Amino acid sequence: MDLQLTGKVALVCGASKGLGRACAESLVREGARVAICARTKETLERTAKDLGAEPIVADVSQDDDRARLVAETERRLGPIDILVNNSGGPPPGGWDTHGLEVWRAAVEGTFLSTVDLSRRVIPGMRARRFGRIVSLTSYGALEYIPNLLLSSSIRPSILAWTRAVAREVAADNVGLVAICQGLFYTDRVQALVGLRAQQGGITPDEALARWVAEIPMGRMGEPGELGDLVAFLASPRAAYITGTAVVIEGGILRRLT
Ligand SMILES: NC(=O)c1ccc[n+]([C@@H]2O[C@H](COP(=O)([O-])OP(=O)(O)OC[C@H]3O[C@@H](n4cnc5c(N)ncnc54)[C@H](OP(=O)(O)O)[C@@H]3O)[C@@H](O)[C@H]2O)c1
Repeated sequence: MDLQLTGKVALVCGASKGLGRACAESLVREGARVAICARTKETLERTAKDLGAEPIVADVSQDDDRARLVAETERRLGPIDILVNNSGGPPPGGWDTHGLEVWRAAVEGTFLSTVDLSRRVIPGMRARRFGRIVSLTSYGALEYIPNLLLSSSIRPSILAWTRAVAREVAADNVGLVAICQGLFYTDRVQALVGLRAQQGGITPDEALARWVAEIPMGRMGEPGELGDLVAFLASPRAAYITGTAVVIEGGILRRLT
């Protein structure tokens, strides 16, 4: 299937490694012209070189950086057709682990970054009558993940926001979807495995095996599996899919939808 992505301009956030990188890689492979961002210049530039993407150093939790990121992407590549919202996850913990300033930063980095970046690209997408916004969240947006209270509290707001905004802009052929991904072995998950090992007094290998045992497929996902899904959802071929949350999780969720 031709995804009709050739020449489309995409901005993929949080993409120097992990899931964002996999999304950028799939989009480049399908012919899109891709800008990627992250905070650490060295890793970002190495990844950009590997993929054939444009690196733009930016912290999506910062207002000025978001404005510059969108402007710089459009200056280098042209109007943005596709936005992939992504960044580092909020820190783990329970109800009393973090003070209010950490909660505020998590809302800013996880939710408001998505809202603001999207607000900056939607008017142009509407005017050109094409746009796709894919926002990575987590399966924790649908079901509480132990010790990830910030993530599980904040991410559902992206699902609600996606549904509402999709209805407002659908008539202009601008589509929004949220991804509720399960477990993929990245630096973020490696760190969480380390934490589980420490808290449970077990080895990281044991902690990893116990987590994997919760996944009916018996393995974590390959980042490329998520990247390919996002490339499809970001493409004109997925135009009729909007407002919804798309799940990719190897069966770990127990809920019906
Ligand atoms: N991997 C999983 O299994 C899984 C499951 C559910 C949900 N998630 C969520 O999916 C997202 C991506 O996860 P991942 O596993 O790919 O994480 P990762 O391996 O830690 O990669 C995160 C990427 O985002 C960049 N980044 C982090 N904070 C940023 C910011 N404020 N502004 C711009 N770039 C930023 C990082 O580079 P810099 O640090 O240099 O900025 C890096 O490129 C996270 O929110 C995570 O919580 C992941």
